Amino acid sequence: MTVPRFMAAKSKGKRLSVLTAYDHLWAGLFDEAGVDAILVGDSLGMVVQGKSTTLPVTLDEMIYHGEMVVRAVKQALVIVDLPFMSYQVSPAQAVENAGRVFKETGCAAVKLEGGVHQAATIRALAQADLPVMAHVGMRPQSIRRLGAMSKVQRDEVELLADARAAEEAGAFGIVLELIPRGIAAKITKALSIPTIGIGAGPDCDGQVLVSCDMLGLTDGFQPKFLKRFANLRETALNATRQYITEVAQGEFPDAAHSHE
Ligand code: KIV
Repeated sequence: MTVPRFMAAKSKGKRLSVLTAYDHLWAGLFDEAGVDAILVGDSLGMVVQGKSTTLPVTLDEMIYHGEMVVRAVKQALVIVDLPFMSYQVSPAQAVENAGRVFKETGCAAVKLEGGVHQAATIRALAQADLPVMAHVGMRPQSIRRLGAMSKVQRDEVELLADARAAEEAGAFGIVLELIPRGIAAKITKALSIPTIGIGAGPDCDGQVLVSCDMLGLTDGFQPKFLKRFANLRETALNATRQYITEVAQGEFPDAAHSHE
């Protein structure tokens, strides 16, 4: 997958699947399964680091995880999130930091949050030949202003303006997070770049989920949009309990798992 192929999927009517990954093991597995793109999301601050928001994630941490993911991937497009305050200061700051991400991870693209207010930055990245995906609607890096992560964003005029500004500035794709399906459908129709929805209904050009949620590894987080395609948490818990019991009872290792 390349950025031009990702963009061309829209006109061909091919729906794009995107999943987050943060390490070599899972990135390799998702790639083998055939996912179109892997997002090294700054959601790693919450799902990997156990923090309550994505705000503390650093550029060095994104590069550390991005590099592991890129090394595992043979075909998917790898997109790395620019973390909070690594691009908001100025377009020049964004180009410099995104440049590090590209050089040190080998990724194909970066993602930043924003539309109208980040248009100059998106333009600067695109002009430096650094493919950039935008992210509008619910933007986790704006949590301090928005107040909550789970708030559906309903301002149609603002959402359309953000999406149009991102496309016009040179974004190659756009994530639509937590917006009503009708607005997502209008944005998808209005743009020529692919829209990738999360909590934005079925009419986007593709979908993205946080992989730990999609696999049922996480617990206690059940927004309406989330479908768990497996219950790996239960499977892993049962396997771990079984291991503990067999070790305690002297059943493992048995003869079949011992060297003579
Ligand atoms: O950081 C992330 O995982 C994301 C997705 C939820 C789109 O931005």
